[in-house]
Amino acid sequence: METMGNLRRTHYSVALSEKNVGEQVTVAGYVAKVRDLGAVVFCDVRDTQGVVQLNFGDDCDAQTLEKAKMLRTEFVVMAKGEVVLREKANPNIPTGMIEIKVGELKILSKAETTPFEIKDDINVKDELKLKYRYLDLRRSKMHEGLVVRHKVVRAVREYFDRNDFIEIETPVLMKSTPEGARDYVVPSRVQPGKFFALPQSPQIYKQLLMLSGYDRYVQIARCFRDEDLRADRQPEFTQIDVEMAYVDEIDVQTMNEGMVKHVFKEILGVDVQTPFPRMPYEEAMNRYGVDKPDTRFGLELVDLTECVKDAEFVVFKSAIEGGGSVRCINAKGLADKLTRKEIDKLVEVVKTYGAKGLAYTRLTADAETSSYEKFLTPEQVEAVRAKAEAEKGDVILVVASDDMDVVYASLGALRLHIAKKFELFNPDQFNFLWVTNFPLFEYDKEEQRFVAKHHPFTMPKEEDIPYIDTDPGRCCAKAYDMVLNGVELGGGSIRITNPELQHKMFKTLGFTEERISENFGFLVEAYKYGAPPHGGMAYGLDRLCMLMAHKDSIRDVIAFPKVQNSGEIMSGCPDYIEPKQMDELYIASTVEETEG
Ligand code: AMO
Repeated sequence: METMGNLRRTHYSVALSEKNVGEQVTVAGYVAKVRDLGAVVFCDVRDTQGVVQLNFGDDCDAQTLEKAKMLRTEFVVMAKGEVVLREKANPNIPTGMIEIKVGELKILSKAETTPFEIKDDINVKDELKLKYRYLDLRRSKMHEGLVVRHKVVRAVREYFDRNDFIEIETPVLMKSTPEGARDYVVPSRVQPGKFFALPQSPQIYKQLLMLSGYDRYVQIARCFRDEDLRADRQPEFTQIDVEMAYVDEIDVQTMNEGMVKHVFKEILGVDVQTPFPRMPYEEAMNRYGVDKPDTRFGLELVDLTECVKDAEFVVFKSAIEGGGSVRCINAKGLADKLTRKEIDKLVEVVKTYGAKGLAYTRLTADAETSSYEKFLTPEQVEAVRAKAEAEKGDVILVVASDDMDVVYASLGALRLHIAKKFELFNPDQFNFLWVTNFPLFEYDKEEQRFVAKHHPFTMPKEEDIPYIDTDPGRCCAKAYDMVLNGVELGGGSIRITNPELQHKMFKTLGFTEERISENFGFLVEAYKYGAPPHGGMAYGLDRLCMLMAHKDSIRDVIAFPKVQNSGEIMSGCPDYIEPKQMDELYIASTVEETEG
């Protein structure tokens, strides 16, 4: 193997163009492609920014040509030579007009055949790509995602710095925060039997910083939540975490809209219109079935309960009598595409959200078919069609359930499913909005008690304060989510700064005095020594980057992500540890070690 010797890179590939013709340059990178034509060898070298063609031909000495013939893909090379115009230009790549006539070649590292080809649009199983993540990251599409992420972080810091925020790091080994997920915990060696929790967010610390007089705080903070993975959820993720003092909801929202506007302009050149539309939570649920609506397309939910309240159809009747409702979406103009077979597939979609079925009326140009109209009176059929604004070409898709959560979740998901399948939106459009007026509490059916919808430090709307302990279900919070194209980009709230109110909140959440004092005693006490009104929010940085880079999963903007079982395939973690290490930490495992 050779060393670089005196050779040093002078240019990245894409920096080279016709204007460099005649110059001696040195490039470095991986061999992407080799074409050996006998008397001449062509080789594409790929660096972090693109590719450039090396030409080992007429001017090349026999020894260098010999060496060029040994090149294989993914060898690491450095090559020095003169930039010349290509005989045959390649308009598909930025350096396609030129090539380098190589005078000196160094093979710095050889490479075995890689488990998959290093190029974009390869058809390889995710598992293999993740096992060899460092190879997958060589592909330019993967570079793109990480470069966008770098630029976003830079622009975010720039914006907040300009607005007098300071970045303060908070601990990673800490006491548990109540963000609603399970904690990752770390045993203490020094204090036997005790555990740290990894932050689900820096929530408590940033509130304390407000009490310490740092009235504009920001942090790019790593957070950890032991919850199930999804395309937009990782156990380890990054937040842009913000907190400000002397503010109310609108101030926090305005500051953050400004950040988004700056970042989109800087990185994508896109002008985001501010202020964003505001939509109360209740409206979002009624119109879209979710609290993070994708507003790039219609297909809104329609409440049919009133139209069918006297119907004898048992499915509708039992849903309404059970306290639920009957709702639909009108798949406008899709009657020809949504055949019976397609509708059967949609049934499977809603079933995964707990719906027992999906009733339909399909109005094609020459036929009207329906799974439920035969059970309704002509007046009821008419009322339903009118309410759904159904006309020829449409399909009415109905879910009835005694559980409102099921109605919303299944129709909300169906709406997205149909829009994606039939490409009903413009993928280049960015639709921002604030969802506001969240409920302060939500009822946990399993635990049979109220839990905080956002977190227990969230300020109720003033007018709802009297009802916190008497009628928690009716209370609204000073909480807000920023939503982009159906993704919850961030969320936040104004915080409770009054210790008595905070205490009342904890009580309503069912915390005992002991638990309040044990878990939050220090926080409750802190608020006794002077607390400015404050509030903030946190964004999922990974989600923001995913949407800006037009990726489908946050995995594509995270260098080394976790997989479905919350582990990392490449290094094989989590893993067992040595018994000695366990002993030192005063812990024992209740499971047997197994292979794999
Ligand atoms: P919240 O829990 O809503 O609020 O989180 C804020 C944002 O973080 C992102 N996010 C995630 N991203 C990837 N993987 C995950 N597992 C994950 N969980 C959350 C989302 C979400 O909107 N402390 C509060 C904020 C505040 O009140 O200031 C908090 O963490 O984009």
